Amino acid sequence: MIEVRGLCFAYDDVEVLHNIDLRISDGEFVAVMGENGAGKTTLIKHFNGLLKPSRGEVLIDGVSTRESTVANLSRVVGLVFQNPDHQLFSETVFEEVAFSLRNLGYPEETVRRRVRFILETLDLGGYAEESPLMLSGGERKRVALASVLVSEPKHIILDEPTIGQDYQQKERLRNFIVQMNSQGRTVVIVTHDVEFVVDCKPRVVLLSRGSILADGPYDSILSDRILVEKASLIPPQISILMSSLAGLGFNPKIIDLYQARSALEKRLCEYVSEHV
Ligand SMILES: Nc1ncnc2c1ncn2[C@@H]1O[C@H](COP(=O)(O)OP(=O)(O)O)[C@@H](O)[C@H]1O
Ligand SMILES: [Mg+2]
Repeated sequence: MIEVRGLCFAYDDVEVLHNIDLRISDGEFVAVMGENGAGKTTLIKHFNGLLKPSRGEVLIDGVSTRESTVANLSRVVGLVFQNPDHQLFSETVFEEVAFSLRNLGYPEETVRRRVRFILETLDLGGYAEESPLMLSGGERKRVALASVLVSEPKHIILDEPTIGQDYQQKERLRNFIVQMNSQGRTVVIVTHDVEFVVDCKPRVVLLSRGSILADGPYDSILSDRILVEKASLIPPQISILMSSLAGLGFNPKIIDLYQARSALEKRLCEYVSEHV
């Protein structure tokens, strides 16, 4: 369980998180969304103790982050930074991804098997012997993801994981994190990618100017035009389409492709049977 109680945080004298209360149960899938500068990254850096609250507290599995070290917290909380260059330091992609498993003392055979698997999963199979520094930004991002996901931490925190990824790479990533989540791991993603969120169907926590603006199921939050605008998000494409068809009687709250398709099919069938 990740529990945030009355969290306030200031960089120097400027408070950027104001009295945040949030509980994320084991096995939940949560997307933290909100405008640039809302405080999303600052919030999740509290989850593995990189930042400590100025006031209030953050508890991971019941223990305050003040009473633990980043090294200890990192065994249960895997955090992938927004900028991969902050965490890549090995000579090859394989070594980079193997590092955490070796640190945890896994036998070499297990290390090799798990590294190969995660590299294939994230479309990095051909890069095992390359230097991470020679890869593109999107590829380095996937290496950073692989190096954390390979150890399958209990709580997985990903800051803007889809930046620089094409649709197929996002789908591979989504399948993997959905699978991790279905095995009971907590997943928290910070993202602006509304379409990715619609595909993942998580609980959404909207952060705006350092406070929680809304918290609820993705469909009720992302179909609320006022909230979406306040958080400087672009509404999902399906939401834009269904809202523009609201005058014809379509439900503007639909944001899911399959629901939209069945609503459109139903209406077309009615039209055809009346007019043809
Ligand atoms: N290291 C830092 N020093 C001072 N201010 C910072 C630092 N990092 C972030 N901030 C400020 O804190 C606020 C929240 O930033 P951040 O958590 O990065 O937002 P987000 O991830 O939602 O874009 C912003 O106003 C940002 O300028
Ligand atoms: Mg950020």
